[in-house]
Amino acid sequence: MTRVETGIASIGLHLPPLAMPVEELAALRGVDPDKYLIGLGCSEISLCPPEFGIVDLASEAARRALSRWDGELEDIGMIAVGTETAVDMSRPLSAFVAEELGLVGHIRSYEVKHACYGGTLALRQACEWRMSGAARDKAALVVAADIALYEQGDPGEPTQGAGAVAFVVDRPEIATVGLDSHTWSEPAFDFYRPVGESYPRVDGKLSLECYKKAAVECFNALAEGRNPAEVMERFSAICFHVPFPKMVRKAFHLVGEVAGWSAEKVQQLYSEKVEPSMLWNRLSGNSYTASLWIAVANALQGLKPGEQVAAFSYGSGFGSEILSLIAGPRAKDADWAQDIERDIARRGRVDASAYNLLRSSVRTAAA
Ligand code: COA
Repeated sequence: MTRVETGIASIGLHLPPLAMPVEELAALRGVDPDKYLIGLGCSEISLCPPEFGIVDLASEAARRALSRWDGELEDIGMIAVGTETAVDMSRPLSAFVAEELGLVGHIRSYEVKHACYGGTLALRQACEWRMSGAARDKAALVVAADIALYEQGDPGEPTQGAGAVAFVVDRPEIATVGLDSHTWSEPAFDFYRPVGESYPRVDGKLSLECYKKAAVECFNALAEGRNPAEVMERFSAICFHVPFPKMVRKAFHLVGEVAGWSAEKVQQLYSEKVEPSMLWNRLSGNSYTASLWIAVANALQGLKPGEQVAAFSYGSGFGSEILSLIAGPRAKDADWAQDIERDIARRGRVDASAYNLLRSSVRTAAA
């Protein structure tokens, strides 16, 4: 078995065909819109019409990633899909996506579940599989896709969203995924969806505490006794899983506080390296497994070879990991940006009454 150069060779993104500004939801719930816009940092909620589901979302992102890769379907030896929007307790989402793509043959196909962390695990496993030599130089197709929908009136409702990111893991044309990552996990019931239930049970405040603890543990491990601010400075961007942007702000500020940075230093690093990466997340809403990778895709745009991006992944339950990516020669092309820009330009706008109708159709389908 031979070790081969490994990393992200192409990226495809997809957002569903509908969206609602959070102001519409605020009007419906009788809440000051600034609570959602400023208090949570949200802007728009991506929504799926009744005929559009997770298989459509994941498959289209995969098609787009494949269309930008110079290999053939026959060169794919693994498809791994990270999701918490499973459509079956046994049949993996990867089988539904493979069916859409016509992907058949000597392929390892599976679904990965660990709340919002599942896509990161799938990507890591694909990289490790290739680097171990077990892939025999075949490529992997990795998809992170989710539809985040809460019970109507749930405090998490303004953070809803949907989205998918797909990667072909092959030669590192766009980025190398560093194997030197740092993990932290700790069993908790901060966010979970028991079998047979349509919506997650969310202890929002607890989830925020778990997320902050995970961020502090992972960033401390990353710094490993070095000056943490200097470690941060070497990254062109520091990306987070984005349940909603304010959560990221709170976690990053705590990381800075624990590291002993001045308030000015924390604000400077946040404004320069964290906040810009969340531009697309504000328009997609939470997309669970895809959320971090939408931020990373945004941050990789236009980077020069060798520039680095940090990626903090968190999944309730809870598990977390911080990875670093190193830009390759094709990061500067950023051809994946057009996916998001086109989807956003084309998507239909939903007002409060259309949202009510949409939710009643979802409820019927889930019943
Ligand atoms: N103008 C500006 N800000 C306002 C406001 C207004 N009119 N009204 C409230 N706010 C602010 C609050 O001060 C608060 O900010 P702070 O946290 O910095 O103090 C913020 O808006 C939220 O208000 P809060 O009362 O805490 O909201 P909530 O209890 O209704 O819901 C969550 C907050 C986080 C619990 C809820 O959004 C949630 O459950 N989200 C999902 C959590 C999740 O995704 N977990 C998974 C993690 S992976």
